[in-house]
Amino acid sequence: MSQQYSADSAPKSALVTVADRRDWWRDAVIYQVYPRSFADSNGDGMGDLEGVRSRLPYLRDLGVDAVWLSPFYASPQADAGYDVADYRAVDPMFGNLLDADALIRDAHELGLRIIVDLVPNHSSDQHEWFKRALAEGPGSPTRERYHFRAGQGENGELPPNDWESIFGGPAWTRVTEPDGTPGEWYLHLFAPEQPDFDWDHPAVGDEFRSVLRFWLDMGVDGFRIDVAHGLVKAEGLPDLGSHEQLKLLGNDVMPFFDQDGVHEIYRQWRLVLDEYSGDRIFVAEAWTPTIERTANYVRPDELHQAFNFQYLSTHWDAEELRACIDRTLDAMRPVGAPATWVLSNHDVTRHATRFANPAGLGTQIRLAGDRELGLRRARAATLLMLALPGSAYLYQGEELGLPDVVDLPDEVRQDPAYFRGAGQDGFRDGCRVPIPWDREGSSYGFGGGGSWLPQPAGWGELSVEAQTGAAGSTLELYRAALAARSEQADLGAGDRVEWLKAPEGVLAFRRGAFVCTANTGGEAATVRAYGRVLLASGEVTVTDDGEAKVPADATVWWIAD
Ligand code: GLC
Repeated sequence: MSQQYSADSAPKSALVTVADRRDWWRDAVIYQVYPRSFADSNGDGMGDLEGVRSRLPYLRDLGVDAVWLSPFYASPQADAGYDVADYRAVDPMFGNLLDADALIRDAHELGLRIIVDLVPNHSSDQHEWFKRALAEGPGSPTRERYHFRAGQGENGELPPNDWESIFGGPAWTRVTEPDGTPGEWYLHLFAPEQPDFDWDHPAVGDEFRSVLRFWLDMGVDGFRIDVAHGLVKAEGLPDLGSHEQLKLLGNDVMPFFDQDGVHEIYRQWRLVLDEYSGDRIFVAEAWTPTIERTANYVRPDELHQAFNFQYLSTHWDAEELRACIDRTLDAMRPVGAPATWVLSNHDVTRHATRFANPAGLGTQIRLAGDRELGLRRARAATLLMLALPGSAYLYQGEELGLPDVVDLPDEVRQDPAYFRGAGQDGFRDGCRVPIPWDREGSSYGFGGGGSWLPQPAGWGELSVEAQTGAAGSTLELYRAALAARSEQADLGAGDRVEWLKAPEGVLAFRRGAFVCTANTGGEAATVRAYGRVLLASGEVTVTDDGEAKVPADATVWWIAD
């Protein structure tokens, strides 16, 4: 007789917290909260810290180890909080320092760690330092903390070099000097409201080490470092010499990205962090040309983890995935850092939508594609990711299988890239729509009022309420996977996988008594039954002769009987 296993068939048992475990981060599952869009406690349509605090039990029950919060600091919100005006204050729209304190304390009581976002590459143009630099004029020492330069051309009317902003347009803006004349230019790799610090100036390093201490004293368990690859610029700010910056980004070391000098900064930061008890961590957002260069950020005296953007950019394709997994593990082993795995975040199209579209469109897509296919692959990709050794990052709402909202009307868009035209087109709003908690009600339980980006009709069917306890739901699949990952198979441990022979389009690997088979092909595949089905993202049929039929785009977790 053949046996049918439905999705998320893993037994559920009490969750074990990792609060006291050393090196907890090596295999941690870390959940990214985007505070604007997670939960709104005061009904103003904008998520806030109190909202996050009220939902911590949900995250504990989901089974994650830590929560990374995108910025909630005082900010004019030109780039959704990645433009910080005061690194030691909470923006009133998110609450205040007492709320941050309560959130950290509650999280710890629940066995969850808190990682905050640190934005050291640039400040807001409303930061005190920048305001003073503008007011004090050319030649003033306050200008030396940023990159102010005279323009080129007869009257300084041309930017100092040819660098472009990541959001499109020149990376330089000309200021009007205090006497009313057009004057110097300042560098901003992102929006004009985000002037880049000059990390050659000692005051910048002093300030950030002090900011680190401020949040460490508040009790945070670590930092996600924004644009960690950008702090140091090549000596003399040389021209790129190419009009193809967008194509070069991510493929080459740039004069403004991934310069070797950044590593000295992180060595100094590591010394600060290590003064504190409690096994706290740094994770780098470092977009580098290769995973081997990413590994430089996690050498033993630098940071603990770096996001694996190569993995995030890999298509749903067995060969490509295997190559990326091997290369990642090989790159991390010599430096002794855990691999990390990530499929979605607040800057890319959600993986349920990426995988709904043909491969090769990149990570910035505004097409709905085939949603059913996308969800099937997203679920399978998640089970594959959670079976790999190392640490995994989840982005809020992916546990609900949320797609990107691809049809936001122009008038609600907020992504600064949307307004800069020449570069990207503002695709990031699509993954930032507030998440649905309830089936019905205003903003589907996000808060009592509206939501800062409109939620699509039908969002309630994807809500936490609708999926809780529903057999086969994506939320229950995540819960079962996280419980099984830590309790039954210790999947995050180690630094290697043993590949098994598998039909074309199928990935199969062993980790002790555990085996993972992921069918990335468009057809059902027959694989060996490697024991009992621990969990599956689709319907798998095991026959008496020791074989199993795995449907297209499905992953199965096996455990030896
Ligand atoms: C990082 C953030 C992104 C932000 C940018 C500038 O890439 O993840 O959201 O726009 O840095 O701070």
